[in-house]
Amino acid sequence: MYIGVDYYPEHWPKERWATDARLMKKAGFNVVRLAEFDWVNIEPADGQFNFEMWDEALGVLRSQGIHAILCTPTAVMPAWVAAKHPETLAMQKDGTRIVWGVRKNNCFSSGTYRFLSQRVTRAMAGHFAETPNVIGWQTDNEFGSPECFCDSCRKSFQHWLRAKYGTLAELNRAWGTHFWGHRVQSWEEITLPVDRGSHNPGACLDWQRHFSWLNVRFQREQVQILREVCPKHFVTHNFMGLYQELDYYDLARDLDFVSWDNYPVWGPPETRYRASMAADLMRGLKRKNFWIMEQTAGPCGWGTFGRNVRPGELRSVAYQQLAHGADGQLWFRWRTCTAGREQYWHGLLGHDGKALRRYEEAAQVATEYRRLEKELAGTTVKADVAIVYDYQSLWATRIQPAFAKNDYVGAVGRYYDALLRAGVNVDMVNTDADLSAYRSVLAPRLYVLPDELAEKLEAYVRAGGTLLGDGRLGVKDATGLCHARTLPGRLSECLGIEIPEYEALPDETSYGVTGRGRMEGRFAAIHYADWTTPRRAEALAKFDEWHVDAYAAVTRNAFGKGAAWYVGTVFKEPSFYDLLIRELLKDAGVAPEIVPPEGVEVSVRSAGRKRVAFLVNHTEEEKTVSLPRRMTDLLTGASGLREVRLGRHGVAVLK
Ligand code: GAL
Repeated sequence: MYIGVDYYPEHWPKERWATDARLMKKAGFNVVRLAEFDWVNIEPADGQFNFEMWDEALGVLRSQGIHAILCTPTAVMPAWVAAKHPETLAMQKDGTRIVWGVRKNNCFSSGTYRFLSQRVTRAMAGHFAETPNVIGWQTDNEFGSPECFCDSCRKSFQHWLRAKYGTLAELNRAWGTHFWGHRVQSWEEITLPVDRGSHNPGACLDWQRHFSWLNVRFQREQVQILREVCPKHFVTHNFMGLYQELDYYDLARDLDFVSWDNYPVWGPPETRYRASMAADLMRGLKRKNFWIMEQTAGPCGWGTFGRNVRPGELRSVAYQQLAHGADGQLWFRWRTCTAGREQYWHGLLGHDGKALRRYEEAAQVATEYRRLEKELAGTTVKADVAIVYDYQSLWATRIQPAFAKNDYVGAVGRYYDALLRAGVNVDMVNTDADLSAYRSVLAPRLYVLPDELAEKLEAYVRAGGTLLGDGRLGVKDATGLCHARTLPGRLSECLGIEIPEYEALPDETSYGVTGRGRMEGRFAAIHYADWTTPRRAEALAKFDEWHVDAYAAVTRNAFGKGAAWYVGTVFKEPSFYDLLIRELLKDAGVAPEIVPPEGVEVSVRSAGRKRVAFLVNHTEEEKTVSLPRRMTDLLTGASGLREVRLGRHGVAVLK
């Protein structure tokens, strides 16, 4: 297991390096990430490379047994690149280019920038291929910005569309350009849909896909070089969890494994569950364990900073990620920098270079990890429940949300949180995943539903699966046109319902909902309401108001060997989702091993018959968790436990 920090030796005098490396070793660290933004020192002038400083720094780290991940430094172009090739700077919507001096400011379609990126990648790869403590690469830094509106991007978009649609007739059909007289008669006429809120939705969706593709291609060009020149090294990238601009499944495809940058939001447990959801998505991108490339180490911000991490919090976020499949973790950053924009992005060491309480806590985690290493070898998170996480639906929802508060990630999160509270592992999967391995599949906000996907979901239920769909399911086809069918279209039979009408609910409006039988209770429907007519399905909850009291808010349909649930609104109460998930899991025959008390999460890593359960207390109260059988706490060594006590932000690892 790798554990370490993001280190910037170029920020400190050489004389300090040995002290840093010694302190890292003392903390139990065995890896650093280096050279993320150092292009100008590596290539101080066009085509002239210099690696002296890095050789020396790597040597110092090596003397303490510390491995290194190097970055292709293309997230910040040197000033000479901008001066010599101004067209490599991204163009903003207003037609002006980004002013050099920040970072992430390049155009991804620029041939010059791609050439320079490949050249510096090849030079670095060649130089470090045999450096003994270099183990792998991070491509660039946090792909996904900026969006560029230059001529080169416009031509690239036109070419991309041509390759995708073949003929103008097909493009015009797919985008529905008969509306507003938007038919184009040559590829050159196609403009960039600069305004997501008013341009053709099909064009906006393709523009987003094209942007994602540009990033993926840019990365691929670097990866190909790294694979060719450094066959012994792994290649990864630092993703941003629930970031929405790129199709992360695509970006992950060319990599050995996914890493991500975890800056959790402190607060009540639900805000912290987002880091678990992100981790499950990161594991889902390649269906394998991942790394944390940057893990928050202190108060952070560029101008102002947030609150400090409280005792136990660093440890709890590290265990949260370990529990969800992190096999390597690096704290961001080693020492708080005295210069530049990130003077307030605090590290394990202060500006003064002294090891802080935060350093001690990170060192404790590293020591404990060594103790767990053997137990965790080969384990990953296995889940009976999957959530379909679909960037096409996410993007289409952003382009036309349909109702004001419709946020894809938030919608997924309502179900995710309830699953976490129930104590079950969850996989986040792409639409092309094999669903047959899951007892239950949730497909929230599956707005874009090509027929093949509908058929796959139907076959899943027919064969015995338990499916859940909800509002705006299956509205659109893959190019952003509305299906010319009564909702939920191809899934009507499977769900046993029809939705002839629907509405958005203004903020001040909510409908009462009365649930019966398995969904017994009174709830409030907000944001949106499908006027759902059950055909074969059972109405488990109905609206109370006179004008909608004929319609169901929640339905369940026995179909084939399985069951299909539909939730046609958003519920205000988290308790609704808890009840829903409880019933869904009953249908699916999924029973959590450990039912956590409020604010505690459970996650299980396993391999064959080996099972290791993690408990993380996300609260500042002591919590007691009862265990299903006698278990051993791998951190304290205590055995024969029928319950464990977790202090504030406490964790336990149980076998
Ligand atoms: C991350 C980035 C790091 C550092 C950090 C603090 O997003 O990858 O390089 O800048 O944020 O701003």
